[in-house]
Amino acid sequence: MNERLNPSDLAYFRRGETENPRFWRRFGGQPDFRGASVLDVGCGHGSMSIYLAEQGAAEVVGLDLNERLIEFANANLEQNFPHFADRVAFLCLDLKDYPLEPFDYIVSKDTFEHVLDLPGLLEEMSRRLRAGGRVYAGFGPLYNSPFGDHNVVRPPFPIPWAHLLLGDQRVIRRVNRRRREKVSAIQDLGMNRLALADYRRIFEECDLEVVSFQTNRSDKLSGKTLHALSKLPRLEEYFTFNIYCVLEKT
Ligand SMILES: C[S@@+](CC[C@H](N)C(=O)[O-])C[C@H]1O[C@@H](n2cnc3c(N)ncnc32)[C@H](O)[C@@H]1O
Repeated sequence: MNERLNPSDLAYFRRGETENPRFWRRFGGQPDFRGASVLDVGCGHGSMSIYLAEQGAAEVVGLDLNERLIEFANANLEQNFPHFADRVAFLCLDLKDYPLEPFDYIVSKDTFEHVLDLPGLLEEMSRRLRAGGRVYAGFGPLYNSPFGDHNVVRPPFPIPWAHLLLGDQRVIRRVNRRRREKVSAIQDLGMNRLALADYRRIFEECDLEVVSFQTNRSDKLSGKTLHALSKLPRLEEYFTFNIYCVLEKT
């Protein structure tokens, strides 16, 4: 690998080698991507997009709003995956500004909990799927789960639900102490703060059909334990840490 790429970005990219197959295991398997066109929304460093090309996708477009990550994804593509250069493209673009091209699949990994206007994004996804095309979205941790703050509170040691126990205002004050650019809401930190019921409602109300909606997908003991606890009355919200859903354009 070329030294011009930032080593910590490369290390993050390489985590995909284990994370991408695990993402698909959590759906119970992956579609046959051979010859397919795939849009990867919230592609970050581009690891899933490269994986999809390796699986035989004919066209992969990775979109993200973070310019720095797209710069890395493009440099990495050029230096380490030149054989995919005619099949993979990374763009720093909001989906609403991407042409209305009908994709076979839209994939989104660990992104939906960050999307501030999820109904709007789903509408734009629906407009870019062919009839019968599917969205595969797997994401977490959800905000109300034990570490749903994505570690922004950072107490001296990890305390589950610390962000909920502190409440929004104290979380914001705490975070602002170490930030130059101050924030005034949790959403300014890149988390949409949606509850499990919000996601269920948003998926039901969008114009895609919900083919499957699975929660707490994990092969770890900790994940299985949280899942068991989520079945207890009134605990589902706080013990549900991820969602893996498939939506289809009918
Ligand atoms: C936790 S990262 C996941 C990145 C990558 N999918 C992965 O699994 O490594 C979430 C990404 O979603 C991007 N993001 C958030 N809202 C977005 C939106 N509305 N459209 C596209 N990307 C978005 C962020 O910039 C960030 O790179």
